[in-house]
Amino acid sequence: MMVQRQENPQTHSLVVLAHPAASSLTRSVTAAIVEELEALGHTTEIADLAGEGFDPVFGLADHAAYAAGAPTPEDVLEEQRRIDRADHLILVYPVYWWSMPALLKGWIDRVFVSGWAFQEDAQNGLVKKLGRLKVHLIALGGADSVTYVKRGYRKAMQTQIEQGIFDFCGAPVVTSELITTNHPASPSLPLAAAQSIIERLS
Ligand SMILES: Cc1cc2nc3c(=O)[nH]c(=O)nc-3n(C[C@H](O)[C@H](O)[C@H](O)COP(=O)(O)O)c2cc1C
Repeated sequence: MMVQRQENPQTHSLVVLAHPAASSLTRSVTAAIVEELEALGHTTEIADLAGEGFDPVFGLADHAAYAAGAPTPEDVLEEQRRIDRADHLILVYPVYWWSMPALLKGWIDRVFVSGWAFQEDAQNGLVKKLGRLKVHLIALGGADSVTYVKRGYRKAMQTQIEQGIFDFCGAPVVTSELITTNHPASPSLPLAAAQSIIERLS
């Protein structure tokens, strides 16, 4: 079943997948998002961080670029270029320890760097540089939604990821879904996740 066609202008999305296993729900949700966007005439590119072997460790070369103005590592530039080509950045990830997986956090650490994502100096203060990028977050968690609210985990994730990362760079978070999978996963779940993005595409 396809989602209903909407009169949106064509957009380009970078869909970032942060899960190593082909059999995972995270991958099924990613596949559904890509399929539905393309069925509506939008274009997509998948950044399969595990499959592509992205190195998430902020290493010496990253630190030299950050602290001493050394050139940005080429693999980071490549990631920045594919984000620059996109209108929408869609992150699909499992919740690990009430946050994003280290693979995705490392991608953020290395790619969303000073000079490209934001600029801070004495004269201008903080300049947010990603205002044109619309962000969609699809997190899949194994615990039930009551636990997320009762313990404050949902709020903590929103503060850290939506405010602390994307608002800091000026990128509006237009979708933020937490899909809890503690009950038998419904076959319509991936399509519902895709629909929530498509509704907010324009
Ligand atoms: C290392 C690890 C940490 C996890 N931590 C959490 C957690 O803090 N909260 C939660 O709701 N689920 C947690 N889970 C469960 C995953 O979120 C769950 O496996 C995922 O949502 C299911 O989707 P998948 O089939 O794509 O893995 C964790 C799983 C792993 C492997």
